[in-house]
Amino acid sequence: MPVGVWNRPWWESENWNTVRKSCAGAGHSHTLGSIVWLMRVHLDAEKCQGHNRCYALASELFDVDDYGQAMLTVEGDVPTELHNKARLAASNCPEYAITITENG
Ligand code: F3S
Repeated sequence: MPVGVWNRPWWESENWNTVRKSCAGAGHSHTLGSIVWLMRVHLDAEKCQGHNRCYALASELFDVDDYGQAMLTVEGDVPTELHNKARLAASNCPEYAITITENG
């Protein structure tokens, strides 16, 4: 948990409970104070079997080739507004071909 982004440590902030609640569940915010969580999506082409759920759920991030295999359409960090779609695609791939890394 970040320390030092506010004037006081996070555990002394009166906003802490609000922040904690906002981070609970799948629809949580990707920002805490001024910190932006960075996300990258990784596709393991060896595992992909062409189920195309990723494309159906997050066409902003995935495309499919002529053989139905997934392709990433973003390079580098995923835009913040697409973080939930990336998570949705990863959690719905039956082959576990999509992984996500996040850091702050
Ligand atoms: Fe492949 Fe999984 Fe998408 S199998 S096409 S990465 S849903």
